[in-house]
Amino acid sequence: MKEYFINRREKFIATLPNGCVALLFSGVKKNMSNDLDYPFVVDKNFYYLTGLEEDKLIYMLIKGNDFYKEFLFTEERSKEKELWIGPRMKRHDILEISGLENVYSLNDFDRVLGSYLKSDTQGVFDAIYLNLPKTVDPFNKKVDEYYANKLKEEYPNIYFRSLYNNVCNLRLIKDKLEIENICKAISITKQGICEMMKNAKNCNYEYEVESFYVWTLKQHNTIESFKTICASGVNATILHYEDNNSAFLDDTLILCDLGSLKNNYASDISRTFPKYGKFTDMQKKIYQIVLNCNKEMIKKLKDGYSRREYEEEAANLLAKGLIELGIIKEFDEVFKYYYHSVGHMLGLDVHDVGKFDEFKAGMVVTCEPGLYIPELNIGIRIEDDILITKDGSINLSKDIIKEIDEIEEFMTNC
Ligand code: GLY
Ligand code: MN
Ligand code: MN
Repeated sequence: MKEYFINRREKFIATLPNGCVALLFSGVKKNMSNDLDYPFVVDKNFYYLTGLEEDKLIYMLIKGNDFYKEFLFTEERSKEKELWIGPRMKRHDILEISGLENVYSLNDFDRVLGSYLKSDTQGVFDAIYLNLPKTVDPFNKKVDEYYANKLKEEYPNIYFRSLYNNVCNLRLIKDKLEIENICKAISITKQGICEMMKNAKNCNYEYEVESFYVWTLKQHNTIESFKTICASGVNATILHYEDNNSAFLDDTLILCDLGSLKNNYASDISRTFPKYGKFTDMQKKIYQIVLNCNKEMIKKLKDGYSRREYEEEAANLLAKGLIELGIIKEFDEVFKYYYHSVGHMLGLDVHDVGKFDEFKAGMVVTCEPGLYIPELNIGIRIEDDILITKDGSINLSKDIIKEIDEIEEFMTNC
């Protein structure tokens, strides 16, 4: 396993100039209230490079002209604290997961960093790279920003640069381990969706259907990759409806947009099905437009296909369907009923990072056309997770049923 992380770091290190220091922090727990913290979520760039997911870890890289050296700093935990919250990862665990050999106490961090950074007394390296995204939310500061400010005061003659995009751009192309993790997350999601479909007819409220999804994840010792959307009727026309607290009306469709995590990798799937397992005629017609678009766009995805065309062609297909059905007359009216993009990158983040204009083999992208027609109480989205290959694409979620007759049959016979 550690070979993957060593390999990613080698690629990352190659993107940096000689004569610099790079620092990435795993992050710190965020306080919820008084002495309670939120569950810790590791910084995704840090995880990508190390495979480690404890709080208060620092990865340090020293890149010279003809050598590089890596360090990992970890907090030492007192025996008394271990009695309350258990031990931290040991040196050999860190080596086994990440391949990082030089493990030091956090107490040594300032001293080791100081021995490399240029100052009046010691050090020669005058550039430091930090994991800082461009847009900075003043109410949600990263520990990296705290250190950036601290180090700027201590080392006024050092250049500060961001390594954020260096890592994000590597994250665009997934390796075998990442794809395996995404597939495992999709497989758990599939089981959860089946449970929702099986049990929907006996539920009165959206949250009851949602509970079958969350239950399935718990059975697999995992959690949602984002807050589950379980929206019926007109609620499904709100893209990120998360309340899930409405009572079902008769003949309603249920739009579920949900995902799970496997080793921090996300699935992101949407399925829409009728509560009692039978679509009305109008629901079928709108559903079929979205389904055709989803299937056509998956066929178009391949290495070299442009992102702009992906968006434009999806909107064209949806518009054509609505014009044929007499719901709209002109192409531009489609945006009254379709108001999001057809896909985004997927990986360690649900809306994954990295900049690109053209799809490349190894990317994983969602294909999620939708139509939202409040006057008909209809919101439909069908979302699959697609791996781009050299010759085309592989639908990683193809086993999650989406044809009208498959859904009706499954829900009738389960
Ligand atoms: N679940 C959010 C999205 O599909 O983008
Ligand atoms: Mn999505
Ligand atoms: Mn989604």
